[in-house]
Amino acid sequence: MRFLTRALLLIVALICLVLAVVLYYIANPNLPDYVPAEQVRYLDQWSEKDRQTFYFTPQGTQVKGLRYDWFGALELPFSDKRFATPEYLARFGFLVDPKQHATPANPGNLPVGFTQHQNPGSDERYLDITCAACHTGELRFKGQSLRIDGGSAHHVLPSSVPTLRGGSFGQALVASLFSTYYNPWKFERFARNVLGQNYDAQHEKLRSDFKQSLDTFIHEAWNDTHRGLYPTQEGPGRTDAFGRIANAALGDAISEKNYRVANAPVDYPQLWDIWKFDWVQWNGSAQQPMARNIGEALGVGATLTLFDAAGHPLTGDARYPSGARVTDLYTIEETLKGLKAPAWPEALLGNIDRPRAAQGKTLFADNCAGCHVPLNKPTPERPYLLKLKMLPVEYIGTDPNTADNIFNQRYDLSSLKWDPKDLAALNVNLVPTTDVPLDTSHVSMSTGLAYITAFVEARAYRDMKATPAEVQKLEGFGLPISVREARTYRARPLDGVWATPPFLHNGSVPSLYQLLSPQDERASTFYTGSVEFDPRHVGYSTEKFPGAFLFDTRISGNHNSGHEFRVGPLGNGVIGRLLQPEERWALVEYLKVLGGPLESQLP
Ligand code: HEC
Ligand code: HEC
Repeated sequence: MRFLTRALLLIVALICLVLAVVLYYIANPNLPDYVPAEQVRYLDQWSEKDRQTFYFTPQGTQVKGLRYDWFGALELPFSDKRFATPEYLARFGFLVDPKQHATPANPGNLPVGFTQHQNPGSDERYLDITCAACHTGELRFKGQSLRIDGGSAHHVLPSSVPTLRGGSFGQALVASLFSTYYNPWKFERFARNVLGQNYDAQHEKLRSDFKQSLDTFIHEAWNDTHRGLYPTQEGPGRTDAFGRIANAALGDAISEKNYRVANAPVDYPQLWDIWKFDWVQWNGSAQQPMARNIGEALGVGATLTLFDAAGHPLTGDARYPSGARVTDLYTIEETLKGLKAPAWPEALLGNIDRPRAAQGKTLFADNCAGCHVPLNKPTPERPYLLKLKMLPVEYIGTDPNTADNIFNQRYDLSSLKWDPKDLAALNVNLVPTTDVPLDTSHVSMSTGLAYITAFVEARAYRDMKATPAEVQKLEGFGLPISVREARTYRARPLDGVWATPPFLHNGSVPSLYQLLSPQDERASTFYTGSVEFDPRHVGYSTEKFPGAFLFDTRISGNHNSGHEFRVGPLGNGVIGRLLQPEERWALVEYLKVLGGPLESQLP
């Protein structure tokens, strides 16, 4: 008997201990401190009006049904401090300006890219995470913050898999939602804030809507965790974009048979000049801007309905309603056409060593231009068209996961009951072309997403009664929805690349200097999460600090191999001769000015 009591006591004590640890980390998630910048400086990349348009035009995503007002009124789990303050959200890597205040475009005074939308016929205002959240960057130097519009974000937004020590946005948000729902005093305060005078009439409805949203978050976290969908931790500044889009649009929306392990986190690419490229994405797989943006919106949470209430697949013109906002996506895309690459600001980051940069220019012409200077291929619709060089994964030798996953995975879409005649009528162009009829139980990621977005687009155009000329304009250059399937990575033009560390598609190389060094001279582990800039090596600081993320290049998806300049035969990751340290420094100096106004001043 005594033994039993002791055993029971021990179990209770253990449970309390585990609970205490969990509560401790909920109260103190593993986040960097907020260090406000003395001043945020903006480069001359576009007008203030364009900037505001890009930062706050919604794209139609929903954060699991979270309403904009709820987000603003949420409190932290163990205090009545608000969750959505600029100071707190900045700790997740979202961008704020210490001088920012609420504006009509940003009434909640939220970070860059956090906005809201209403669906037609409804007064609910949903929180909407838009392009700018992932495609705006920041460099810190001497207390100043340099905003890089269209640059790479460095936040921890997408991670959905909880870890004991926390530190991801989703996990912290769920902790706040959970405590708000289950702590009656908190919920009372929250509801009075959100509802004001309507408290009595709408309190019950608020509680049930709120619970629905909370359940969706918890369901996703459980689904992603117990299936082990995201084994390679993304950390700051990365997400497995294609893997997550496929798990949302082909898994969540169609069948659990379609969940696939997504172990290929990629960096957020910079967006200047992308409208001139013949193919976009790290693996050069997509072409039409509208389809690309709809696909992305579906991955980030725009609603997609493929079945009716009875579970039958939608057919004919009923296919497929979605929350993606076609007109707003077009506005964003047009705004991006005016975005200039960032030019190295000598006053802030130090003067360019011009003779050295001039040496770098010669070295660039000999060692890099063959891949990184695209061919001009003007067409009547696209006088600025650039043809970018594609390199087979085996040759360039960088981490193969994302290219492989996109190329190899197959999905069962047979429950959608697609008719080949309907597919043939869609504006889809598969590269390479094939005569083999589509086996809908065995569809590649690109093909599946191409057809789904084609149906979504066609439906949106019908709903808005767009004329054929308007459709052409909205789609972008009248391009079909082309998807290319190849195991390749794309060599992009390098103007402004200095402002987008870390480097390579998976962010596995922290500085330009290391990228030009052989793999055995690159850091095999380093810390990410700081945007403190190192203008000499051109990268972020990789020192350890509280809340830092350990980037381990030995983990699948994180490999820092390839794109190497070293002694040995070309291929298998070696793309050029060994560069002497002096030559690397010269190239780094040149990359700071490539394509910018200072380039013309080189001797
Ligand atoms: C949740 C973060 C996120 C959001 C929001 C987001 N993107 Fe991206 N975007 C990415 C990632 C990650 C990639 C790289 C994916 C890949 O190629 O594997 C990418 C790729 C791109 C590319 C291709 C760039 C290139 O170099 O080829 C373009 C263009 C782009 N995004 C535009 C947009 C636009 C426009 C929006 C809003 C309509 C948007 N993105 C919203 C994360 C995001
Ligand atoms: C054989 C073709 C080839 C040559 C030569 C080449 N590159 Fe690259 N480069 C690529 C490809 C392909 C990528 C994308 C690889 C990836 O992300 O996995 C890339 C990526 C990069 C990136 C990272 C871009 C980013 O957004 O992260 C930089 C910087 C770069 N190269 C600089 C150079 C420099 C400098 C040289 C010459 C010293 C050079 N490259 C030579 C093909 C090449």
